[in-house]
Amino acid sequence: MSLLFSPVSFGSLRLQNRIVVAPMCQYSAHDGSATDWHMMHLGSLAMSGAGLLIIEATAVEPRGRITVDDLGLWSDANEAAIDRVVRAIRSYSPIPISIQLAHAGRKASTKVPWEGGAHIPPGQEGGWQTVAPSPLPYEPGETAPEQLDESEMRRICDAFSVAARRADRLELDAIELHAAHGYLLHQFLSPLSNQRSDKYGGILKNRMRYPLEVFEAVRRSFPPEKPVGVRISASDWVEGGWDVEQSIAFSRELERRGAAYVHVSSGGLSPKQNIPVGPGYQLPFAEAIKKALHVPVIAVGLITEPAQAEQILAGGQADAVALARGLLYDPRWPWHAAAELGAQVQAPPQYWRSQPHQYKTLFSHELD
Ligand SMILES: Cc1cc2nc3c(=O)[nH]c(=O)nc-3n(C[C@H](O)[C@H](O)[C@H](O)COP(=O)(O)O)c2cc1C
Repeated sequence: MSLLFSPVSFGSLRLQNRIVVAPMCQYSAHDGSATDWHMMHLGSLAMSGAGLLIIEATAVEPRGRITVDDLGLWSDANEAAIDRVVRAIRSYSPIPISIQLAHAGRKASTKVPWEGGAHIPPGQEGGWQTVAPSPLPYEPGETAPEQLDESEMRRICDAFSVAARRADRLELDAIELHAAHGYLLHQFLSPLSNQRSDKYGGILKNRMRYPLEVFEAVRRSFPPEKPVGVRISASDWVEGGWDVEQSIAFSRELERRGAAYVHVSSGGLSPKQNIPVGPGYQLPFAEAIKKALHVPVIAVGLITEPAQAEQILAGGQADAVALARGLLYDPRWPWHAAAELGAQVQAPPQYWRSQPHQYKTLFSHELD
């Protein structure tokens, strides 16, 4: 019996298997609204046979976008555009769908990755004034972000709540709060980016305060029976930065407040990061956090082989695995993993004739 293809529950949401489509920004929206690209991209991934599809980092307000082309969920137009995509998927695929709610903070206002991803100063095309816990730019030489005061922090927190209510109206099955990769909530957590002297800075308890407030607001704004999980960066990979011990403390606080899972990534906070990238390089973090929690943990990061994924689950390092690049490269990865591990996935009937063991049996309708 394959563990990868056994069910897992995030709160009361039961997934058919433990493969998660990781959130992946597409930088292909107009004014935050999904386009036909999202229809093709998410439509393809919805037929992957994975247990859960997480829609890309979705900005809760315009200045929280990484680029001007990011997906958003701050307006009725944004809601209607992603509704079209979600409805189309629902017509043909039973895959549960989640959305990652995000704010980029000081890492907003950049070019798209395929144009180099550089910071765009305010006043230039595609650029705007960014905000952050402290007026510290991501890279020296970039325009410093404005330090958020408490009323602006409340406004952003409210924007997360409004987006969560929109996600419910869209009948999405879950929300993932983005507290990883050096974006706004991670900027509050890390002592490298948060140098505030008020109750939101300094000791760990204070640095966790705002991300926990935002989590509570999102949790309150989404029906209790639907899960809200959180993606974290378990380490800044920089001396003196956010680390796995602080991540365990944060994860425990999230669990106490009703987080349905913790999704363990790393990095993104500082250009000084030194990451020993290799197969499953973030697994030790997932494993350490899993030991401290009761709720499921998702591991991610260079998990590319079915046997590797099975091993991660068998070894108790995580409860589910997320794939990003591997699923872009091979959107049928779960089909192939199922074939390798002797399991099955749900595939649309239109594609049933594709199974290789049937190629040699030609029926009259095969000649259609
Ligand atoms: C095209 C692309 C877009 C991404 N966008 C997001 C995102 O929106 N939110 C997020 O948390 N991580 C994002 N990531 C990171 C992935 O979710 C994942 O954590 C990372 O790629 C490592 O997993 P992998 O080795 O399976 O690709 C993105 C990665 C890629 C390749």
